[in-house]
Amino acid sequence: MPKSSGVFAFDAYGTLFDFNAAIARHRAAAGPDADRFSELWRQKQLEYTWIHTLSGRYEEFWTLTQRALDHTFARIPSVSRELRGALLDAYLKLDAFADALTVLTELKARGERTAILSNGSPAMLASAVEAAGLKSNLDAVLSVDTVKMFKPRPEVYALVTKEFSVSAGEVMFVSSNRWDAMGA
Ligand code: 2OP
Repeated sequence: MPKSSGVFAFDAYGTLFDFNAAIARHRAAAGPDADRFSELWRQKQLEYTWIHTLSGRYEEFWTLTQRALDHTFARIPSVSRELRGALLDAYLKLDAFADALTVLTELKARGERTAILSNGSPAMLASAVEAAGLKSNLDAVLSVDTVKMFKPRPEVYALVTKEFSVSAGEVMFVSSNRWDAMGA
């Protein structure tokens, strides 16, 4: 198959990395509300990104992730706050989905250009990429921190077209989040 002239860009959390892996690693300690806890944590994390972007008050994704976690502990007290540190550590080294490395390796074998485009803070993404062993299969790791606003702002997706000097029509963007795919 001939190499494309384009770029394959991937969302990070929920697409390459499994954000439910954080609670999964501590499921026994978290108890029966583990899944509900993980779902609310993700929901609040995203809600905060949209509120901060709409109000023009950017704060790093790592900060909002911690605030969302604290909100979730308050809403679901059956999960002990003693897990806070362990859950945040796990979030910095989330498991990649089984097909993530396979897909990126195959794309690079075909000579394609690949990138991450994520709300994640640069340090968060560097840690996750390193832990999952994806680094050598990514030409760029792009964080919204560059433009100080979150997805689905159009300025975020423009980070890819600018980085690779391609048109939007030459980018294949992959995301598990419908609102993210809409933005792209
Ligand atoms: C991202 O990684 C939050 O999944 C979203 O940008």
